[in-house]
Amino acid sequence: MELKDKVLQAHDRQLWLSPILAKVGYNTPIGKLLRLVVYYMDAIIMLGAWRDFLYIRKENLGDKYFAVDQAIMHSSHSQVKELMYTEPQVRGNDLGIIRMLAPSYLLDNPLSLGMNGNEHTGARAVFFQALPEPSEKADVLGHLVERSLTEATQQGQLHIGNDLPKILLKILHEIVFDISLSEADIIASRTYIKGLPLASLPNFVSKYLLAIKTAPNIRHRKHLIERYKQSPKWASYLQTGSQYQLNEHQIANSLFDMIHIAGTAGTSALLGSVIGVLCLDNALRDQVISELNAVWNGKESLNRNALEQSSLINNVILETARLYPPVRFVSQLATESGEVAIAGQKCPFQKGTRLLGSIFTANHDAIRYNNPDSFDLTRDFSDILSWNGEGHERACPGKSLSIGFIKIFCFYLFKKYQWNSFTDVKWDFEKVTAVTPNDLVLQGFAQRV
Ligand code: HEM
Repeated sequence: MELKDKVLQAHDRQLWLSPILAKVGYNTPIGKLLRLVVYYMDAIIMLGAWRDFLYIRKENLGDKYFAVDQAIMHSSHSQVKELMYTEPQVRGNDLGIIRMLAPSYLLDNPLSLGMNGNEHTGARAVFFQALPEPSEKADVLGHLVERSLTEATQQGQLHIGNDLPKILLKILHEIVFDISLSEADIIASRTYIKGLPLASLPNFVSKYLLAIKTAPNIRHRKHLIERYKQSPKWASYLQTGSQYQLNEHQIANSLFDMIHIAGTAGTSALLGSVIGVLCLDNALRDQVISELNAVWNGKESLNRNALEQSSLINNVILETARLYPPVRFVSQLATESGEVAIAGQKCPFQKGTRLLGSIFTANHDAIRYNNPDSFDLTRDFSDILSWNGEGHERACPGKSLSIGFIKIFCFYLFKKYQWNSFTDVKWDFEKVTAVTPNDLVLQGFAQRV
């Protein structure tokens, strides 16, 4: 069967289910089971063709349609923006489109994304304390980046998909906890991140049937959590968290997720895409290098001025985040039941239904962006959605650090290092891997003399 037929047939099943759920109840055992069936049926198609899945439904059904566990997908820029700015938001323990059904993988602590009320406010207070303002730490971050890039010269290459997440894991642990991870710890953290889809299986399956895969990852998480509690910064996080009645377990686990899921996965993907964009566009790369040369001589430590004056690279990062958003979906729960029109049909939905926002399609919405698929640095970035908007209770707390970090990385990469050649720059829009040119390798990677 053609992909289009599969995607639309699976949606017919969702339409068929909508009135049934209204009768049997959304959160009754039978309601949950029925939703789980459609969840995995849609997920199987999405795993191999996520972008086509979104566009086939959008083009044939409109900007709103059902997807996965009978969630309502919102795909236009205006709809997604409205969802993001809803306050207060009620959340379930979901990582975008993925439902975290196996608490054991997260040591029974929900993601901050899934927290509500005081618990969520407390977790964010700890995050803001842990994440430095990059312009105030430009020198420290610069030295950490330089050390990682110099290590890459020893292997003679910089591999985007493999090396960048490792670099981020190492640096984020140093700045958040002042601890240095061993190579073995970094590999275990990488394996943990790659294993996250295992947390979307029912707990019994994830914890027991797939123990051979999940148990080492869970052990690693426990081991790092204990190390966090030995950190010189631990007492200050504990003090902040306890003002919101968070206990040690909640604080340490939330910081683990902040570093591993949000920090490492998101930033390494965006950094990889920025490097990919600059590898492909010689003229733009030359302009960026001229800007870097104009604001930093490469001899002194990096400082606030250099970061603040590099406006071209700033826009390169924002436009790359628009075209290749590392986080593709946001999720919240409907606080009231209602009716939604899908493909001309009125469908009931109930309180607790997931409302999904598709950042990827919103960022490529032709109503908001002229020639949405082309790279254009002159755009108005004031309402960019890639970091979940700005100035509200769920906006990304790592926005400024991630942009600052990527800038600093580019400063060092282009000023102090060189490479002979690079492999194909290709973004994979089929498999659900990070949206970044995973296989790109800068070959013959060496220090500039
Ligand atoms: C240093 C790097 C980063 C850190 C430490 C970080 C941290 C976080 C944390 C802790 C949250 C959860 C906030 C909450 O629960 O209220 C979050 C949310 C989010 N982050 Fe980041 N982030 C980083 C980089 C990025 C990047 C590079 C992007 C994309 C360009 C991004 C996009 C988002 C989005 C869209 C959300 C909202 C997700 C949702 O509500 O479902 N983040 N970030």
